[in-house]
Amino acid sequence: MAHRDVKRHLLFEISTEVANRVGGIYSVIKSKAPITTAEYRDRYTLIGPLNRKSAAIEVEELTPTDPYLVETLRSMSDRGVQYLYGRWLIEGAPRVLLFDTGSQYYHLDEWKTDLWNVGGIPAPPGDAETNEAVVFGYLVAWFLGEFVYHDRTRAVVAHFHEWLAGVALPLCRKRRIDVTTIFTTHATLLGRYLCAGSVDFYNNLQYFDCDAEAGKRGIYHRYCIERAAAHSADVFTTVSHITAYESEHLLKRKPDGVLPNGLNVVKFSAVHEFQNLHQVAKSKINDFIRGHFYGHYDFDLDNTLYMFTAGRYEYRNKGVDMFIESLARLNHRLKTENSSKTVVAFIIMPAATHSYTVETLKGQAVMKALHDTVNEIQEAVGRRLFERSARHNDDSGKDFSEDLNDLLTGSEKVLLKRRVFALKRSTMPPIVTHNMADDANDPILNQIRRVQLFNNSSDRVKIVFHPEFLNSNNPILSLDYDDFVRGCHLGVFPSYYEPWGYTPAECTVMGVPSITTNLSGFGCYMEELIENTSDYGIYIVDRRSKGIDDSINQLTDYMFQFSLKSRRQRINQRNRTERLSDLLDWKRMGLEYIKARQLALRRAYSSSFDEEDEDYNSFFDGTEMKLSRPLSAQASPRDRSGMMTPGDFGSLQEVREGLDTDDYVGFKLPEEDEDEPYPYPLSLK
Ligand code: UDP
Ligand code: G6P
Ligand code: GLC
Repeated sequence: MAHRDVKRHLLFEISTEVANRVGGIYSVIKSKAPITTAEYRDRYTLIGPLNRKSAAIEVEELTPTDPYLVETLRSMSDRGVQYLYGRWLIEGAPRVLLFDTGSQYYHLDEWKTDLWNVGGIPAPPGDAETNEAVVFGYLVAWFLGEFVYHDRTRAVVAHFHEWLAGVALPLCRKRRIDVTTIFTTHATLLGRYLCAGSVDFYNNLQYFDCDAEAGKRGIYHRYCIERAAAHSADVFTTVSHITAYESEHLLKRKPDGVLPNGLNVVKFSAVHEFQNLHQVAKSKINDFIRGHFYGHYDFDLDNTLYMFTAGRYEYRNKGVDMFIESLARLNHRLKTENSSKTVVAFIIMPAATHSYTVETLKGQAVMKALHDTVNEIQEAVGRRLFERSARHNDDSGKDFSEDLNDLLTGSEKVLLKRRVFALKRSTMPPIVTHNMADDANDPILNQIRRVQLFNNSSDRVKIVFHPEFLNSNNPILSLDYDDFVRGCHLGVFPSYYEPWGYTPAECTVMGVPSITTNLSGFGCYMEELIENTSDYGIYIVDRRSKGIDDSINQLTDYMFQFSLKSRRQRINQRNRTERLSDLLDWKRMGLEYIKARQLALRRAYSSSFDEEDEDYNSFFDGTEMKLSRPLSAQASPRDRSGMMTPGDFGSLQEVREGLDTDDYVGFKLPEEDEDEPYPYPLSLK
């Protein structure tokens, strides 16, 4: 490669979730933006496909000023490429370049043929997602090629996330584009597919015939893209040790390191501000619950716990099957123990729907009407009360309290009665808030039917399935996801396949206890770092060495024990949970990204490094860059002095050798074979 300035290198980060929320990758790039822009300023640009709907809300258009960028974009636009360049309106305000793939679809067949010729990667017709990946990949490779042709002085790091953004990687390699590349996989295609089916994944990782398994599932071409991306990148990484192990076997390349996911931790000036926020958000959830359960609202909200699970709708992978079965067992247990607690369990997972049900909207409407009426009457009664009190004269011989008996007028009583009658209902409170496109075959609804959790009055566990991501603009449950999480008591994420798992991590930084598993990257990370995670409100279900039934019982037990806590105990636990947030801050996690970029630069531009420049070279050799242990977490983590980020457990520190399988400390295979069949029968005994 040519001699380029590595110190002032540019960074392009490429993902299909730039300014476009799909799942956790959006959370990665969005939450990381503040530290990356702080490091790179205008040398950092995110590249993604243009999704006009989300970009219209999230991106403010700008005119590019960097002369090389201007040149490159002009030349591409001369050939019909449409794009949006602007500022992503999030903290850090990074620059984004969004290509309109639609403007180049007429090249699709030509590019598919080329992909076959240069990489032996097939792209059969009819797979819209792959078509999109191909067009986007060719646009990115085109852009990078042109850019480094115009800018011949600065080194360029191109960091790609996930196979959907990975087509450009083999192209960069084949075309010898003068950039250095990193590929981070946030899961493997085969992992996702195999786990979603009935396969004992973790015991058989070494033995899968990957081509055949991909072929059987109709994803061979996608698998080829993913594998080509992993092999063409200068540096290959993933998000956890468990996924590193999986990638080694399924993608056949040992990752160079692990780049764990961080969060942008918000610290409040008042330490207990997050507790107040819990109360505020909880009262909004209370409002929703009163409306949703109208007519059957016979439980005490002061004695009610809100539990929830959330994420993309991957029924088995996200452990929703296990969650619902455990809720049924929890219901049984709370009933037999005559518990006065009510648990409302929310499932927030987007599915195909035709908007809200009439019942759901009606519930909120009748409750609002009641609320408005009560407010009006309250005001009128207040006026009357004041008048009578002011005019009351003890010498009149009238009893003051009797004087108060008719404070409500006859018409007010009638109005109130009408509102109360409107709360009558012959149906049970609904499980699902929306009209499902395929109600009869929906796996979540079918499982709820199977375990018969129908929101009966006698049930101590109630379920609300909200098949759409939350948003404060929604007509019901009008809360942004973060506020909803804050208002809940416990997040439950019993995943079977979860390379990292942002949802429990987000709970942690908001001081909300959560349940995860030892098959999630996050769970393994916390287990490695903390002696007794449950003390800190992180409960880890063993899905690795326990049989299915035992795991379900363990999950049930965690939820049951949680229900026994007093309010004071919950408040204390939230304080302890929140204290862990420094462990997940990008300020600390982001270090692995820095190392990966350094490694990529060294691999591609070794001749550009000035061996005399000690500051720059010391990065890999010493531990100077390690962050000290956060004070607020003093009591919690294990003593791991000198091993402060997960990558240190054996990864980019030994960059030149690559990862050793023995280093996957967070993930060890179970000793014994489990012959538990999967899928397992999930019926309530
Ligand atoms: N999420 C959201 N709105 C919701 C529910 C979830 O934005 O109503 C987000 C959540 O904040 C999290 C992401 O969805 O960041 C899910 O990421 P995770 O890593 O848990 O799983 P993935 O979907 O990437 O497999
Ligand atoms: C926060 C608030 C308290 C409130 C408590 C409720 O700590 O600051 O005022 O009493 O939340 O906690 P709970 O677990 O019962 O929702
Ligand atoms: C993937 C994984 C999830 C991870 C996210 C961000 O979508 O499913 O576990 O948290 O990417 O890395």
